[in-house]
Amino acid sequence: MPAIVLVGAQWGDEGKGKATDLLGKDVDYVVKFNGGNNAGHTVVVGGEKYALHLLPSGILTPGVTPVIANGVVVDLEVLFHELEALSARGVDCSRLRISANAHVIPSYNRTLDKVTERFLGKRRLGTTGRGIGPTYADKMNRVGIRMQDLFDESILRQKVEAALEVKNHLLVKIYNRRAVAVEEVVAELLSYRDRLEPMVEDTGYELWRAIEDGKTVLFEAGQATMLDVDHGTYPYVTSSNATAAGACTGSGIGPTLIDRVAAVFKAYTTRVGEGPFPTELHDADGERLRANGFEFGTTTGRPRRCGWADTVIGRYATRINGVTDYVLTKLDVLTGFETLPICVAYDVNGRRFDDMPANQSDVHHAVPVYEELPGWSEDITGAREFEDLPENAQRYVLRLEELVGARISVIGVGPGRDEIIQRHPLLDD
Ligand code: GDP
Ligand code: IMO
Ligand code: MG
Repeated sequence: MPAIVLVGAQWGDEGKGKATDLLGKDVDYVVKFNGGNNAGHTVVVGGEKYALHLLPSGILTPGVTPVIANGVVVDLEVLFHELEALSARGVDCSRLRISANAHVIPSYNRTLDKVTERFLGKRRLGTTGRGIGPTYADKMNRVGIRMQDLFDESILRQKVEAALEVKNHLLVKIYNRRAVAVEEVVAELLSYRDRLEPMVEDTGYELWRAIEDGKTVLFEAGQATMLDVDHGTYPYVTSSNATAAGACTGSGIGPTLIDRVAAVFKAYTTRVGEGPFPTELHDADGERLRANGFEFGTTTGRPRRCGWADTVIGRYATRINGVTDYVLTKLDVLTGFETLPICVAYDVNGRRFDDMPANQSDVHHAVPVYEELPGWSEDITGAREFEDLPENAQRYVLRLEELVGARISVIGVGPGRDEIIQRHPLLDD
């Protein structure tokens, strides 16, 4: 079983970091293929909590080679900050490989991300302010700075000049900020060059070689299906392809090399930032989900919006990603609710949608059609077999499985590394 893609099925923060960590001991490579330090993965190992933003979660497993592939946008200050913090805690980061084609996030794009949001006022997207959007925009506009540019000073200077030619007008004339000096940016980027040099290479080639040699490669998505720039709730999305197909373009691996796609689905739904969210709760139940699930952003600390499970989204995620297996997380957070509504369809002005409406406006106006299941009150964090779960918890899982249309292979019953129920192996089956 050489290549598996792991994606988020909802709006992020499903527990992808934990799922990657879970597979860690059985994989040789963990590849981050999209996004940047807008991601936030919390992984709990032996009672110790690690918050990762840019580095793939696989870095926590000894022996795994973590890869930052070409589809990622890299904030170099954050990269070295994370590497130093992990090294100080005894994590070996020496294997990290970074694609020569990955784009870097220059400081002016962080500034632009923040001032654009402020400028938009109530039409803002609620971005993480990390410069993600402007950096992907530069990539598509062909004025981006790639990792390899740092190794050719004259090219780097030309590219920074080209980018700033327009951006300085924008900063000064529209946003009333000071202009950015080319030399300042060039000097900052060059200051990372020597440390980067041993890590930067053609990671696409290395990954292809690894798969050819029968090594196991895990592609870990940042963000999630509903935040995908093509398939999510546009424009309330991130600027990369967070769905399974992004693993190919984002790493240089052909689709025929991918064997399996696992999606992480939280037992309820959360969202950070603006945008439609049909099952969102504005009541005590929503508060309770937020408190029980500790739903506060790993990256920005913002309280996450919370709501019931939405299987219209689940079916959509199954289809868009070609999901073979689900990892259902945070089932323990639902303990104690008397009834558990599951959204099975949307009602839009009297019209029923069993599947994701083609028109975004319909999602904004969707009223969830709920099926109510009985809850359970027993503590389930100690369950390690499916049969250990209370009958109502089993029913909830089986009904979700039926509605999303792919098997639920792993169930999370707590944040810890071993707090899971494994129903089917994710790798070799
Ligand atoms: P990611 O962005 O998808 O990696 O997810 P985050 O790390 O942002 O958010 C998931 C949170 O849920 C983290 O704090 C995890 O430690 C926690 N978590 C993951 N799985 C479980 C689970 O099964 N139960 C509970 N209670 N917490 C979980
Ligand atoms: P992980 O990997 C949840 C959201 C932001 C905002 C929108 C655009 O931890 O699941 P951006 O800064 O990317 O331009 O912001 O996307 N967002 C996330 N929400 N989890 C994430 O990552 C996210 N990454 C971006 O809140 O609404
Ligand atoms: Mg997260």
